[in-house]
Amino acid sequence: MRFTPPIDPTSAAALARHDLDFRLVDTADRADFAPWLQADVRGFLGSRMSDELLDNYMPGIADRRTTGVYDASAAEPAVTVATVNSWQTALTVPGHRDVPAWGISSVTVAPTHRRRGIARAMLESELRVTAAQGIPLAILTVSESTIYSRFGFAPASLTTDLEIDTRRAIWKGPQPQGRVHFVAVETLREQVLPLIEAKRLATPGEIATWPHLWDRTFGLASDDKSAKDKLRGIRYDDAEGEPRGFALYTIDDNETHYSEHNVNVLSLVATTDDAYAGLWSHLLELDLVSKLTVPLRSTDEPLRHLVSDFRAVHDVNTRDHLWIRIVDVEAALTARTYSAPLDLVLEVTDSLDFAAGTYRLVVESGEASVTPSDATPDITLSVNELSSIYLGGFSAQTYVRAGLIGEHVPDAAAHLDRAFHSSVTPHLPVWF
Ligand SMILES: CC(C)(COP(=O)(O)OP(=O)(O)OC[C@H]1O[C@@H](n2cnc3c(N)ncnc32)[C@H](O)[C@@H]1OP(=O)(O)O)[C@@H](O)C(=O)NCCC(=O)NCCS
Repeated sequence: MRFTPPIDPTSAAALARHDLDFRLVDTADRADFAPWLQADVRGFLGSRMSDELLDNYMPGIADRRTTGVYDASAAEPAVTVATVNSWQTALTVPGHRDVPAWGISSVTVAPTHRRRGIARAMLESELRVTAAQGIPLAILTVSESTIYSRFGFAPASLTTDLEIDTRRAIWKGPQPQGRVHFVAVETLREQVLPLIEAKRLATPGEIATWPHLWDRTFGLASDDKSAKDKLRGIRYDDAEGEPRGFALYTIDDNETHYSEHNVNVLSLVATTDDAYAGLWSHLLELDLVSKLTVPLRSTDEPLRHLVSDFRAVHDVNTRDHLWIRIVDVEAALTARTYSAPLDLVLEVTDSLDFAAGTYRLVVESGEASVTPSDATPDITLSVNELSSIYLGGFSAQTYVRAGLIGEHVPDAAAHLDRAFHSSVTPHLPVWF
């Protein structure tokens, strides 16, 4: 039986002072869970879910720790006025390893109850729950980048949406050795999880995903039947016939300019360079298509170097994506490997106190040891900046220039950057 940490008494007391009830939601009880889900989608401006969609959705996320805030004086007191769910996952860190991470999702507060401290109570509660379970850090993806810094989170990886002009992006990469197959979406759905899992440890910033996420991606958890019917799935098999990757896409209608269709690539996962070549060259060479739109790609896609015109691959929206909040400095910093030796004393500040302290960080042969220290710090940084540079996706020297990291000895940030460098650009390819 999965352990669900009980409701956090500090936040429950803070909300009770406003006559609000903070409690765990019983995800096995439809009468309790369905109104929570309706409140969640309403919070993200979505449509009311049908009974059929609720039936599909609920089992997929029922194992999460699901909390709600209730207002007995509201017209519909059974409907949650604030939602959060969370679960233990695994975050890939440099060195082909992962670290336990507390994933936080579905953070909503009803517009009728906004800006009276409900989200603060719920998020502080999530951080206490993270620390109490001995999980070194919490993670989330955000609707707005203005909300979470105050809780110690910071962006740790970027993502970019690409638009590719296929008339200019002529494939010049290696000839794929295998072949592409069309596969019915329902069948492909069954085949992708091992491929996704095989790739996960290769890229810092990836997380262990879950079947329901792919139901959503594959349109199987949607009330929109037409969106589902538009999905096309392809699988790449290597020369030996082993599946090595897949892509999922839809095509926008274009009756006016029939040879200029737009393909939306919703997902493209390749576990080998050969599969990467096979899937991308296939998509770039589709007839009657002039543009690919491809959300949530790495800022460091090899694709640009594999086509005839670098500028045919446009970044249309580069932004923060994965946000990290370290709660246990020693456990987080020792979980990853490092690119250069280091011996520095770090003063970490944290307005919520979880990570605050002075630590000596020593790196030898790529492995870190972290000990509390009374020595004079070489560098002072808040838990936000530490969380941001954690995967090697952001630079300590840039934060020094921005006045957010204080260097007390010359080149301390440069040393930190050399050690924290990741040879693979951190990237998370999903929303959660
Ligand atoms: C974002 C949201 C959860 C905030 O809930 P809330 O209960 O109004 O927030 P709180 O009253 O607890 O505010 C906590 C702090 O965050 C700040 N804050 C809240 N929402 C903010 C926003 N959208 N942008 C910037 N700051 C915000 C508050 O000013 C407050 O700051 P302070 O405590 O430092 O003074 C709520 O507005 C919401 O549901 N938005 C739509 C869904 C969404 O975007 N959720 C986030 C998903 S990642």
